[in-house]
Amino acid sequence: MAEYTFLKGDQNWWRQAVIYQIYPRSFADGNGDGIGDLKGIISRVPYLKSLGIDAVWMSPFYPSQLADGGYDVDDYRNIDPRIGTLAEFDQLIEELHKNGIRLIADLVPNHSGDQHVWFQAALKAAPGSPERNRYIFRDGKGENGEIRPSELASHFGPTAWTRITEPDGTPGQWYMHLFAKEQPDWNWDNQEVREDFLKTIRFWSDRGVDGYRVDVAHALVKDLKNGHLPERQSFDVKVMKDDGTDDLFDRDEVHEIYASWREVFNEYDPPRMAVAEAWVHANRRPAYASTKGLGQSFNFDMLGAGWRTKKVREIADYNLTAAKKSGSSTTWVLSNHDIIRHATRFAFPMVSDFAGWYKANRFTAKPDIELGTARANAMTMLLLALPGSTYIYQGEELALQEVLDIPAEDMQDPQFFRNPELGLSRDGCRVPLPWTKTGSSFGFGSGGSHLPQPSWYGSVSVETQDGVQGSTLELYRKLINLRKQLQTSEEITWHRNWFAPKLLHFSRPGGWHCVTNFGNKPVKLPAGEVLASSQPLSDGKLPANTTAWIRA
Ligand code: GLC
Ligand code: CA
Repeated sequence: MAEYTFLKGDQNWWRQAVIYQIYPRSFADGNGDGIGDLKGIISRVPYLKSLGIDAVWMSPFYPSQLADGGYDVDDYRNIDPRIGTLAEFDQLIEELHKNGIRLIADLVPNHSGDQHVWFQAALKAAPGSPERNRYIFRDGKGENGEIRPSELASHFGPTAWTRITEPDGTPGQWYMHLFAKEQPDWNWDNQEVREDFLKTIRFWSDRGVDGYRVDVAHALVKDLKNGHLPERQSFDVKVMKDDGTDDLFDRDEVHEIYASWREVFNEYDPPRMAVAEAWVHANRRPAYASTKGLGQSFNFDMLGAGWRTKKVREIADYNLTAAKKSGSSTTWVLSNHDIIRHATRFAFPMVSDFAGWYKANRFTAKPDIELGTARANAMTMLLLALPGSTYIYQGEELALQEVLDIPAEDMQDPQFFRNPELGLSRDGCRVPLPWTKTGSSFGFGSGGSHLPQPSWYGSVSVETQDGVQGSTLELYRKLINLRKQLQTSEEITWHRNWFAPKLLHFSRPGGWHCVTNFGNKPVKLPAGEVLASSQPLSDGKLPANTTAWIRA
């Protein structure tokens, strides 16, 4: 691996970074088989550079049966042959680093895929064997073990237990899976499992990976002592205990694991960063963000903020204060591979996060795409002005809408198969990106696209927006680059405007002001030089659904 000295030494590069999430199967297809791959990503490094981002977070690229879009990992230290090779991975890192972009890999420690060698070995071994002990195997209840060990639901179905057939052909033990049945949960009480993950972290860190996004970080340690098994029907955070003693999630002991990872992260220069995907009570996030642990923790609060002045301010305040306490920086997220694209959420009357959105809008309302785009861009611009790292999801820089009409037979998401009638699918935000106005799969690749693209895709493609003033793509480029110049310390000051209560106005040290108009009438701007605005000003005023950055 070549050494890029500018990448060394800067321990804090992630604190106020813009991180661009790539869902590898849907970004760019380099060999024309309809599936995005490393070759495709390498060919688009100039595009990534043109955005001005600091890092790419790549969703799983490991060998997988794709029962859950790659979050069912069959081999943690390899690349799915459909996505590429380790040599291509090295090449990708090299290209990114050469262009000043870091790489964050997705680590999936709660469960593997069911084709993982250790799970296959467990199936072949006997109950009570060391092989079974790496996962969570239990005998069933009832006379013949035919009743599942506990009433525990999975995120993708009514039960988290699946019964296996023993090597001798008889119905056998059950194993726990909090997600699909192809995603058996690891037993984190097992030392070998712990050691294997340290090996994985070293493997990728040695290859130059700069950080990790840690999947379902709150679930690893469960209370399985003395024959106890968790029972649960709802995964709402509200039913989770908030003091570290819940028997399923967010147990205090999980931080021992992250402390051991931190020691490995700190063996590198700069130390590898990590960000936890932990769906826990807000008061519990700082532990994940601790400098002795992963170091940063996602806050997904803005997903539920809607288009509400007060709520946005409250969320910003809460998370900035919390981050300060933990010594970390906070994160801002509007979209990712699990939720309805925010340009679509804002296009509907009831703006809410994933499940609420479906219930409220799917069969009733018509989208107002213009409004959705305006609010999406205004909100992104607001978040980019806040201290912390901003995570953006591929395609949002095009104001891409969710694809809402994927036919049932083309769906891939296990969440969809759970209740097809609800249409709760994450595939609509995972449709391969449109690069060109026309052509086979709109420039995604030469051989179609693994999820069907809609006919309107070309009209929002990169080619359509590239160099076009007023396009969302050019707005993102401008803002991300401008932000870098304006950023100073991680402080904000709120400014109240008594005549315009729906105006949210804050400033950062150095005279960088951010003003968002959540109301429905144009408002007078504070004095200063307008550096950028998410929509053109009207008669010098800030239109509704618009954000402006001002130097004062
Ligand atoms: C995380 C991922 C999601 C996946 C789940 C199980 O929430 O973001 O895509 O389905 O974990 O790994
Ligand atoms: Ca391909």
